[in-house]
Amino acid sequence: MPDELGYAGPEHLEPAYVAAYDRKQKYDPSADIEELARRGLDDSSTLLDMGCGTGTFALAVAPRCARVIAVDVSPAMVAHVAAAAEARGLANVEVIQGGFLTHHHEGPPVDFVFTRNALHHLPDFWKAIALGRLAAVMKRGAWLWLRDLLYAFEPSEVAIVMDGWFAAAADDPLEGYTREDLATHVRTEFSTFTWLLEPMLAHAGFRAMDAEVDRRRTYARYACVKL
Ligand SMILES: C[S@@+](CC[C@H](N)C(=O)[O-])C[C@H]1O[C@@H](n2cnc3c(N)ncnc32)[C@H](O)[C@@H]1O
Repeated sequence: MPDELGYAGPEHLEPAYVAAYDRKQKYDPSADIEELARRGLDDSSTLLDMGCGTGTFALAVAPRCARVIAVDVSPAMVAHVAAAAEARGLANVEVIQGGFLTHHHEGPPVDFVFTRNALHHLPDFWKAIALGRLAAVMKRGAWLWLRDLLYAFEPSEVAIVMDGWFAAAADDPLEGYTREDLATHVRTEFSTFTWLLEPMLAHAGFRAMDAEVDRRRTYARYACVKL
């Protein structure tokens, strides 16, 4: 098995980067929470957030759920989420250090899996294993809400797509992802083509019910049902 920490992005292991992460991300989880509520998330639901990072989504969704399991491979991220959950008095959030390939679920199968901007840390072979492991802990009919940096274009279009993406990058690394951040992502991480991910999802036992692709074609969201 690979060492998932070795793939996790070295910055995600640094407490200083973790402390500044939310400002760089600027992620508002409310739209995702409402989308999941429309698909049945309620106070009886169990939700697994895999690669939860600083816990922006997990902590925000917790008051709407029975049980939230927030998992991340980075000890610095896990420490941050655990402290934030305690500070907010969220007793239904379990914070666990683990990964797509190593987390062992305890308890009944879950109703929802949320994973945002994390699957691209694994090469495709391991993505397929990871998706199968997620499916194995989900109820039939459960939802997988997958957001990630994904490439919705043909290999022949790479130059034009990358030029457009890089042109829109942030100037200040504290405020967003710079050209250098994006270049590092492309060189060293494992965003995959949507047309490769989709059969992986199907093979793992998911039906993609709808998908949204960002206009730059470098980001997508899949709403999938576990069959
Ligand atoms: C870009 S951050 C996204 C965090 C959060 N989901 C968000 O939306 O802000 C990627 C996260 O995935 C975690 N990660 C990387 N590889 C992982 C793995 N194999 N299993 C679980 N988490 C992983 C990193 O530690 C980091 O917290």
